[in-house]
Amino acid sequence: MNVELKAAGLAAVAQHECDALLVLVADGFKPGKDKLSQCIAGITKAGDLPAKPGKTLSLYRPQGLVARRVVLAAVGDGSSQHMRSAVVAALGGLKSASPQQLTVAFGLPPSASALRAVVQAISDATYSYTTTKSKPEPRTVHTACFFAENAEDLRTEFDRARAIVTGVELAKEWANRPANHATPTDLAKAAKALAKGPGMQCEVLGPKEVAKLGMGAFMAVAQGSDQPLRFIVLKYTGAPKAQAPVVLVGKGITFDSGGISIKPAPEMDEMKYDMSGAASVLGVFAALAQLQPRLNVVGLIASTENLINGSAVKPGDVVTSMSGQTIEILNTDAEGRLVLCDALTYAERFKPTAVVDIATLTGACVIALGNVRSGLFCGSDALADALHAAGERAQDLCWRMPLDDDYAEGLKTHYADVANVGGRAGGAISAAKFLQRFATKFPWAHLDIAGTAWRGGAAKGATGRPVGLLVEYLLAQTAAQSAATVRAAK
Ligand code: BES
Ligand code: MN
Ligand code: ZN
Repeated sequence: MNVELKAAGLAAVAQHECDALLVLVADGFKPGKDKLSQCIAGITKAGDLPAKPGKTLSLYRPQGLVARRVVLAAVGDGSSQHMRSAVVAALGGLKSASPQQLTVAFGLPPSASALRAVVQAISDATYSYTTTKSKPEPRTVHTACFFAENAEDLRTEFDRARAIVTGVELAKEWANRPANHATPTDLAKAAKALAKGPGMQCEVLGPKEVAKLGMGAFMAVAQGSDQPLRFIVLKYTGAPKAQAPVVLVGKGITFDSGGISIKPAPEMDEMKYDMSGAASVLGVFAALAQLQPRLNVVGLIASTENLINGSAVKPGDVVTSMSGQTIEILNTDAEGRLVLCDALTYAERFKPTAVVDIATLTGACVIALGNVRSGLFCGSDALADALHAAGERAQDLCWRMPLDDDYAEGLKTHYADVANVGGRAGGAISAAKFLQRFATKFPWAHLDIAGTAWRGGAAKGATGRPVGLLVEYLLAQTAAQSAATVRAAK
């Protein structure tokens, strides 16, 4: 979706050509002398647009306006939450009209976070997956043009929202794609395509290079599949080369059958989204390409299928990870941590300021936190706080979970340094405890997005989370670094 922001009020909006006009009317709306204001004032006075957030009124060819279709939506106090519900209600009413060009105006100048909520909600409500349809319908709302009198104060926030929308939509696209249209090789191609942007580089390792690195855990997962594994290294260099990067590590299981510890058939199709962590890394890089912040970021994606052929890894097999630690694979369905642990060891070479891995790691995290907040696991309070705050800013929430050593008890085994599963109780935490063993050389955080990367039910599909959270976190690092530079210069 394309978005634009124009500095103008309701008078200008009345003259703007578009397929549909959405006006978000907050409590305390003060009408000007222009036609649109007067029209809204008449309607609210007559009680035809109740002040309750989410209430809408559709108009057709209202006098004095260029737009044929107009929807007024009440947004209560104008908070992000109210903005979102109003957008969802209003776009629902416009669905049959399928407007390509949507204009959005505000009865009262929006706050930065409210504007962001509106931009994100419109993208979310109008996104549709079409790649594998033979006769795709055109997307509703191809371009959304926002009018706000205070546009210049909102510009920075708006540019962020736009970049996040680009990243979220890319992440959705890849997570939605069926596994036969999103193989490890396809993901690597997508990463290569992103690397054409300014400041971007991409290197892709295949089975030979990965074997040479000694990534025995990653290879164990891949050995049951006929698709060759890919280890993708994306780099964004926006600051001097010597500046240590943040590393993002994405789980890229393009299909998780469970392997020999096979999953039950119902909903197994959804395991095509087991590369949502990888998709979010691609999405973040798409956003970075737009924003060009002064910082360095490395994205690592460990990608393979988790399938079952005659050479598939078996429960009880012991493999040696790149770190040298041996792992007893008691359950081949706990494959995410196996591909991630080698990627974490690989991350050491960048001497990063922080490493954040993103993974649809455990069903247990879905049980713990549902689909509202991603699970955040982190030994460092500073890093945990930064990620948590970034999630709040981006309206892409997470919640910190514990990492007490006692949670690792179940990972003990007689046959290797560590087992890859630790029992059902606290399963999201023991998974994180497993990863923590491989993240000793840098500040590290793990985001379990099993519940948040995907929506079930009628609106089934990828959410593009946690691209927003990650982009916000990264941008905060540029601010932190420039503050440090200023302090050093004094
Ligand atoms: N990809 C799954 C986790 C998952 C489950 C993601 C549901 C999204 C929705 C992961 O690889 C997995 O299978 N985890 C197992 C771990 C268990 C064997 C310890 C799980 O959660 O059941
Ligand atoms: Mn699995
Ligand atoms: Zn998985």
